[in-house]
Amino acid sequence: IKLMANLDLKGKRVLIREDLNVPSMDGKITSDVRIRAALPTIKMALEAGAKVIVMSHLGRPTEGEYEEQYSLKPVATYLGELLGKDVPVVRDWKSGVDVAEGELILLENVRFNLGEKGDDEGLSKAYANLCDIYVMDAFGTAHRAQASTHGVARFAPVACAGPLLAAELDALEKSMAKPARPVVAIVGGSKVSSKLTVLDALSKIADTLVVGGGISNTFVAAAGNEVGNSLYEKDLIPEAQRLCKETEVVYATDVRTTKEGFKEWSHSSKTEVRKPSEISADEEIIDYGPETAARVAEIIKNAKTVIWNGPCGVFEFDAFAKGTEVVARAIAASEAFSIAGGGDTLAAIDKFDLADGISYISTGGGAFLEYVEGKKLPAVQVLESRAH
Ligand code: 3PG
Repeated sequence: IKLMANLDLKGKRVLIREDLNVPSMDGKITSDVRIRAALPTIKMALEAGAKVIVMSHLGRPTEGEYEEQYSLKPVATYLGELLGKDVPVVRDWKSGVDVAEGELILLENVRFNLGEKGDDEGLSKAYANLCDIYVMDAFGTAHRAQASTHGVARFAPVACAGPLLAAELDALEKSMAKPARPVVAIVGGSKVSSKLTVLDALSKIADTLVVGGGISNTFVAAAGNEVGNSLYEKDLIPEAQRLCKETEVVYATDVRTTKEGFKEWSHSSKTEVRKPSEISADEEIIDYGPETAARVAEIIKNAKTVIWNGPCGVFEFDAFAKGTEVVARAIAASEAFSIAGGGDTLAAIDKFDLADGISYISTGGGAFLEYVEGKKLPAVQVLESRAH
């Protein structure tokens, strides 16, 4: 595929699709990872003398409607502070936009446009008309075939990958296609059913497959234990049993439980450490026990490649955070090539301040998982078709 880094951008209208879909609470951005990750690409285009137009989605608004809560204005303000310049947000761009060389504008949330999600041809052409060069840099949205990620790349005069997308694809290929062995994959989190295909795919690549969170609970139940009120998926027990026969799956051999309901959870919630056979019906598993965390840390220590998606417990509360912390610290301390992706995973890395120890932090959630599953990302495929 063509790379933005190899093109002459001077004086060109350069339309960059970023993934600035950042979490926020009460109008305040709570993680700026994606904004910071997009920054080098935007700066590179500005410094090359391009007329820069950035676009992104934010959240999932009702398509075709303007909803203030999904406006990119707070993102523009934040980006403006990082760049030290004004970033105007443009809502009405279809009749053309005027940007000076070395300056930028941000188009308002692309999902306010009718046809965005359906990859509409008319809308794709309207985006394409804005530019001389289209740069796809939004790895986090590369699994979506939408007008701003896919359609526009068919019609733009030139379509290429930005530095962030290129770096993401390089790091994933390094860890997945030709990894240094042993490979340890750690899959945790709460969305059990959506991660089963990921487990299957990873079991073929990884030498050791470690599960945490709700996924580990499903394996604990599959081994015939009572799991009380724990988050797990009963329907997936046969699948978990099959996976255990086919490959070595490491799951909790001791767990931390609480009797408190989730509304009562706090940083000082009362917990107990139990063997899986000792869990009672009124308890809920909320983390690895110390023995399991230490065992997983030891496995990580001997790895040459680590792929991590999903926390091992409810790390948001200090009382339930130890398992995720021990695992995260082991990954950060290890000399293995480590790659981590997914919103909760990034939040855990942030909480324990371990970003410097991870070789590559992916900005992708769904896109990261689809890549890991071996699926083709449509926004990358279209760039391949435009490579010549
Ligand atoms: C994400 O957060 O995973 C991406 O920004 C894609 O968002 P979407 O799932 O709403 O398409």
